[in-house]
Amino acid sequence: MARITAGLGSSHVPAIGAAQDSGRINEPYWRRLFSGYEWSRRWMDAVKPDVVILVYNDHASAFSLDIIPTFAIGCAEKFPPADEGWGPRPVPTVNGHAELAWHLAESLILDEFDMTIMNRLDVDHGLTVPLSLMFGQPEAWPVKVIPLAVNVIQYPPPTAHRCYRLGQAIARAVAAYPEDLNVQVWGTGGMSHQLTGTRAGFINTAFDTMFLDKLSDEPEVLYSLSHEDYVREAGSEGMELIMWLIMRGALEGRVRELHRFYHVPASNTAVGHIVLASGRAG
Ligand code: DHB
Ligand code: FE
Repeated sequence: MARITAGLGSSHVPAIGAAQDSGRINEPYWRRLFSGYEWSRRWMDAVKPDVVILVYNDHASAFSLDIIPTFAIGCAEKFPPADEGWGPRPVPTVNGHAELAWHLAESLILDEFDMTIMNRLDVDHGLTVPLSLMFGQPEAWPVKVIPLAVNVIQYPPPTAHRCYRLGQAIARAVAAYPEDLNVQVWGTGGMSHQLTGTRAGFINTAFDTMFLDKLSDEPEVLYSLSHEDYVREAGSEGMELIMWLIMRGALEGRVRELHRFYHVPASNTAVGHIVLASGRAG
């Protein structure tokens, strides 16, 4: 039987990918940031998941204002890196797990989550930067990835509570998949940041710390916050944090925090990272 063994949260700042792609990770500005992921890289190498359900948002790369899916799931065999204006990142093509993805799509839709099914999807920094942080620059990504894209760009995004419930539905779906697979769920984006407007550069360390503190044992505090709360406290792009609640919802019951890292700044963004072991996995 497939099982969700762990959840991982991470910011997905595009400048992190650019630093890695251009060989600048040992510059003082970047060294502190990348060092916060060293524990997780060793851990990942030890636990070796088969599949990552990678929750992220597209940043007008695969989608535009023409079509705005609230939740979209990648059911293809492969997902090429998107051209975000400077050519695609020089990273491997992402390999999917079409069979599990179709199982998830069926299970979630019959569970009344109306997923958009993506048979073609170019994946941008929201998905590839967390892979780079965890795996460096391999010839091929050592894990299969099911992209799960969430609209956090165009109002109205889904509520934080809806995201948490989707995570719970993902847990039910994975538990019903017969193949023995070690599955992780990652939530990306955040932490506090605002890229434009009069509050551009806004960082709220107190809110970010509260979010990381409550994620394990009091997620209800976080999924009860409104969109206005997230924008006010985390900045307009800090809304990306609701995607971490899909990850948390997918971990059943009590979880164990294995690792945490927080750093300001990377580009205009507070960077947060957490690793949670699923209660059931022990
Ligand atoms: C930045 C951060 C993001 O999460 C993003 O998607 C785009 C830009 C930034 O800080 O530059
Ligand atoms: Fe983003």
